[in-house]
Amino acid sequence: MNKIVYSLQKLASLQVKTAHRHCCDKCRGYHVSWPILRANALVGGIDSDKDIYVQCINQQFSNRNNMNILIAGCADSGILNMLFATDITGAYIDIVDRCMTPLECSITAVADSSDITIIHNDLLTFVPEKKYDLIVCHSLLPFFDDEGRGRLLRNFALWLDRGGKLLISMRNKTEDNSPDDIGVWIEQKTQTAFERVDTKENTYFRRDDLVDYYTMMSRQNLPYRTVDEAEQEFRSFGLKIQDSYIGGKGLSFVSNGNNPHSLILVAGL
Ligand SMILES: C[S@@+](CC[C@H](N)C(=O)[O-])C[C@H]1O[C@@H](n2cnc3c(N)ncnc32)[C@H](O)[C@@H]1O
Repeated sequence: MNKIVYSLQKLASLQVKTAHRHCCDKCRGYHVSWPILRANALVGGIDSDKDIYVQCINQQFSNRNNMNILIAGCADSGILNMLFATDITGAYIDIVDRCMTPLECSITAVADSSDITIIHNDLLTFVPEKKYDLIVCHSLLPFFDDEGRGRLLRNFALWLDRGGKLLISMRNKTEDNSPDDIGVWIEQKTQTAFERVDTKENTYFRRDDLVDYYTMMSRQNLPYRTVDEAEQEFRSFGLKIQDSYIGGKGLSFVSNGNNPHSLILVAGL
């Protein structure tokens, strides 16, 4: 299938520059730091969950040709990279994000963008032109309050094709697997990581970029931690949980452990 041709370091530099053009104060800190933290294996995001995701997708779909796929919220090209590692062939991929930064960087980082469409929209107002065989929603739920999460789940149910599957995954944050002060931790790690970036890349990273990241990080608690808790809510929005996978390496933010801390819920209609 397709591949990502940008290294994570190069992607991080591009994302910093792009963030200064597109991001608002609320998302700049996140979009600026995420790829550089990923490049240095300092966060446990999609990279930590890649193997379990690939296994899940390969097991869940017997026909993996010409699938319509939606990436709901992308952060950077990490989810694309995971999809490219599956046995899916000839997919049409839509990526929706409310910020242009991860969209523009993802499409630039990919070898062949002909079957990938970036959509600059809010997932609560987006109206797709087609139904999807697969919707990937990784670590997105903490961005929504209870009412917004309900609207999002209802939308996913409307957008799934017959036999389509929604993969919702959540990284489990517990009190003992995150630094005491996540803001200070992110700032230090991002700063150090960017110091290592080749100066020729001309990356204009500013300390101020991170300020609003702190507020966002404090909202990372997840709405449910068990399948049972999720099941009831999903059912009320027209989604049935069909399977679940627990795995992933590393912890929520600091990837220095091996505890399985991710839950992927596979839901259908
Ligand atoms: C935590 S990241 C998703 C992480 C990504 N799935 C990954 O694992 O790398 C959240 C992304 O969703 C976007 N986002 C948050 N709320 C959104 C909304 N209501 N509509 C569209 N995109 C949203 C943010 O701009 C950000 O890029």
